[in-house]
Amino acid sequence: MTKKPRIKYSRILLKLSGESLQGKRGFGIDPEEVRDVAARIQRVHSMGVQVAVVIGGGNIYRGTHESKKGIDRITADYMGMLATILNAVALQDALEKLGAPTRVLTAIEVKEIAEPFIKRRAVRHLEKGRIVIFAGGTGNPYFTTDTAAALRSNEIGAQVLIKATKVNGVYTDDPVKNKNARQLKKLSFIEVIRKKLKVMDLTAVSLCMENKLPIIVLSMKIPGNICHAVQGKTVGTTIS
Ligand code: GTP
Repeated sequence: MTKKPRIKYSRILLKLSGESLQGKRGFGIDPEEVRDVAARIQRVHSMGVQVAVVIGGGNIYRGTHESKKGIDRITADYMGMLATILNAVALQDALEKLGAPTRVLTAIEVKEIAEPFIKRRAVRHLEKGRIVIFAGGTGNPYFTTDTAAALRSNEIGAQVLIKATKVNGVYTDDPVKNKNARQLKKLSFIEVIRKKLKVMDLTAVSLCMENKLPIIVLSMKIPGNICHAVQGKTVGTTIS
């Protein structure tokens, strides 16, 4: 009989960028990439971990970016929120094809497509072993999907917020541009705020700090990374 892995975090919220679904296309949704992301999520879920997901929309529409080019900020933000709904249903489709029961709960009502976000319902779905994808950001303009991730993590009582990025953690400098950039294994919330480290926006970081919710920043591309993180192994950067 195979030994069950020890689990440190039994309820997690995974924050994915919209770009994680675009693959080599550089835009939109690449079905192969979505399958790959879904398989990684399903692996953690099959360990018996309750998994919630918040996904961004930058592969389809970047609200903040577009608003700088002239579109009204609030309109642009709503367009970005709609983009997260497209990503959420694509991910749900891929997860269900792998046999993982999944529910999409959205902060912006599109009741023909997804359930409205109700905190108690979200928790109930998690308790029943369903992967819960939160779509539509916070439902409000001016907030990022990172803030939505911090908010939902706190609302559902997640024990950790795992932020998947392109690089495996927080570095002293951009590791893509600077070969000498060092990875930081541990950071405090205050350090992130003081040093203006671009891990997440300030609203998201403050929300986690106030509620003592640890954040793990890691790359999803490294096989087993999320599974190791939920087992409490050192992966990427932990902010606490
Ligand atoms: P339990 O009641 O805990 O068993 O949860 P459940 O989600 O299986 O039951 P429910 O009867 O609420 O939902 C059945 C199906 O309908 C699920 O796939 C839900 O995601 C979906 N569903 C429920 N409410 C809505 C809604 O408002 N809009 C949409 N589009 N789907 C919904």
